[in-house]
Amino acid sequence: MKWDRIKYQPCVPLGADGKLLTGSKEHIELSRKAATEGMVLLKNENETLPIKKGERIAIFGIGQLDYIKGGGGSGEVYSKYTRNIYEGLKIKESENKLFVFDDLAKFYIKEYEAQKVNNPLALKGFSQSNSELIIQEPIVPKDLINRAKLYTDTAIICIRRFSGEGWDRKSEKGDFYLSEDEAKLVETVKQNFKRIIAILDVGGIIDSVWFKEEEKIGAALLAWQAGMEGGLAIADIICGDVNPSGKLVDTFAKKFEYYPSSEHFNDSEDYVDYNEDIYVGYRYFETIPDAQKRVCYPFGFGLSFTVFDIHSITANANDEFITVNCKVTNIGKMAGKEVIQVYFSAPKGKLGKPSKQLIGFKKTKLLEVGETEFITIKLKIDDMASFDDTGKVQMSAYVLEKGEYKIFVGNSVRNCVETELAFKQKSNKTVKQLVQRCAPYNIKRRMKQDGEYDYLPSYDRREALVIAKENTAVAPPEKKNLYAVVTGEITLDEFMAQLKVEELIELCSGQRGMGIANTGSFGGLDSYGIPYMGTIDGPAGVRTYKGDNPVNTVYTTCWPCATLMACTWDEDLIFTVARAGGMEVKENNVAVWLTPAMNIHRSPLCGRNFEYFSEDPFLTGKAAAAVIKGIQSVRIAATPKHFCCNNKEVNRNDSDSRVSERALREIYLKGFEIAVKEADPWVIMTSYNLLNGEETSESYELITGILRGEWGYKGVVTTDWCNNSKHYKELKAGNDIKMPFGEQKEVLKAYKEGKISKAEIEACAKRVVELALKLD
Ligand code: BGC
Repeated sequence: MKWDRIKYQPCVPLGADGKLLTGSKEHIELSRKAATEGMVLLKNENETLPIKKGERIAIFGIGQLDYIKGGGGSGEVYSKYTRNIYEGLKIKESENKLFVFDDLAKFYIKEYEAQKVNNPLALKGFSQSNSELIIQEPIVPKDLINRAKLYTDTAIICIRRFSGEGWDRKSEKGDFYLSEDEAKLVETVKQNFKRIIAILDVGGIIDSVWFKEEEKIGAALLAWQAGMEGGLAIADIICGDVNPSGKLVDTFAKKFEYYPSSEHFNDSEDYVDYNEDIYVGYRYFETIPDAQKRVCYPFGFGLSFTVFDIHSITANANDEFITVNCKVTNIGKMAGKEVIQVYFSAPKGKLGKPSKQLIGFKKTKLLEVGETEFITIKLKIDDMASFDDTGKVQMSAYVLEKGEYKIFVGNSVRNCVETELAFKQKSNKTVKQLVQRCAPYNIKRRMKQDGEYDYLPSYDRREALVIAKENTAVAPPEKKNLYAVVTGEITLDEFMAQLKVEELIELCSGQRGMGIANTGSFGGLDSYGIPYMGTIDGPAGVRTYKGDNPVNTVYTTCWPCATLMACTWDEDLIFTVARAGGMEVKENNVAVWLTPAMNIHRSPLCGRNFEYFSEDPFLTGKAAAAVIKGIQSVRIAATPKHFCCNNKEVNRNDSDSRVSERALREIYLKGFEIAVKEADPWVIMTSYNLLNGEETSESYELITGILRGEWGYKGVVTTDWCNNSKHYKELKAGNDIKMPFGEQKEVLKAYKEGKISKAEIEACAKRVVELALKLD
């Protein structure tokens, strides 16, 4: 298309020997490796997997061709190709590792091509239109099944799911549950084959009862949406070239209705009551009476082709820390990796507590058969505290209630043993005294540890705005360029002092995108030498613009979805992938990567769960911190988002997330808190939704009170794109930039009417300039 090409700036390759890193072979290879590390083997009876060398297989399901590499919306990534499952397995065939019944594959290929012809979107490489998968599951003719049966006993069934931004999933057949056609396919395969392997190419939780409780299905691999090399990564595991080591980061319940968030998920488009309170995910299933039996696969669970012995477990405490030691020995038949998980249980006390909470983890290296690794995990005792939001122990404080704290070590929330350490807290201890912030105003009840509900009081907003201090620095006599700050000729305050209020407002407003930065830029005050800092989406890769003509598209590496990355439980690997992604951002002259996304998997239905990590805030925080460190290690700004409680997509711009302050702090903010304190992101994105009746981007208590005040955050806060809040109110709250455009006239008007001061605007603008100074 006209102009497509000239939108791009020349970009200097950053790879070795002057080669491009973007979409390079080495990055694609890393994407494949990461994919194999996060896939979770859910079932493996009678050594169904790995398949034996030279084994014959028949592959069922259109998903073998129509492979879903990631989700849709701003998280979609345009890579040069996507390796589907069929292609992945054919590569293994070329190495004589297995043999595919190709007549069946030919049938699927013909069906696939025919369906694509009738659908222009599919021809362009899209798997879905809005919430519907375009390509339907065809019915395999009987004679073909008979011939497949003559060829082999082993069948693979490929099931896939898609979801995306702006819409939520459904608890129906074809989404959470198998569609009728899929169920028929499974039935047919069950009747005709002895060894059956299910592969799930999904971005979120789906029903798992159909294979867990079906003897005839011997193995199930939760392969997630695993990026551009997903099909080959799956084949790596199927053949045993890689031993799976991924572990669940969410609880797989037996029915959708068993998730406590399900009851009111669709009550209203305008609000969601987080009545289950802190009992999200395994905190619910492991705590609430009788809920354990509603679990199909517990949090932390994942099989290996080998067996590990976790032994010599000890735990010792001093005043500040608990140190857990254990040994892991590979006592099976194949090299592999194990994930050691540490959970604590706090005394139920007056506040009520989940039965177990994750507080530490470590993945082993690749352990050869017979090899042992010594693992040490250090826990901070204060991290076991709970937030008291109604004054039962100590109002608005994190408290360690008196009683016994138990520590568990194992490889899932269920399969773990209590250590001998009986850590006793003699009396209630206030770990941190805070003030009430973002308290609920309109949610009536909260769940207790017995599954019953407590009345939850409503509170008014109470924090008075603290006005930013006037900048008293004297502007330099002549107009100075920002570079004068870099060279030390003038201070940043002196630089800021020369900017007129209109210019400050411009800095607090999104600017046009440069080059491939297709979501706009920060900065861009040319006459003062403030550069355009281009932004671009993630998290599964750099999301470029897809032109109609491939010549006009910069294809990038598509990494596995964030949930798969979390399932690796490997902070080093997450760092490495994020750093490689950051290099692609940098190579394309973009400054800010709108990554990681880190909302909590409160419900399986949230359409963007594939972009988020987990139902657990600790793991979420650790994974996000690793991503942020990886990206910023190449001096690209990371942007954790969406701050906070964006746990649903439908009507996300107007929906009010109504949540207790305790659940907010212990579940929905905790991941952000860990990420901010451990990794210091340069940018944070607020969310579209309201939080307890207030737009998050306008919430002084959230941004200036909690994020900046309590956690010491110094970076930029941006809105999400095209939200519907008031720009001047956002600036007053400490949300520095409105994207992709500001409401400059309205802010100026508010300034002239005395609703916002120059100092308040300058405080925000200054942080934008500080960001420019951090960049290369
Ligand atoms: C999404 C963000 C994204 C932004 C820019 C919004 O619709 O919620 O995650 O970064 O668009 O594309």
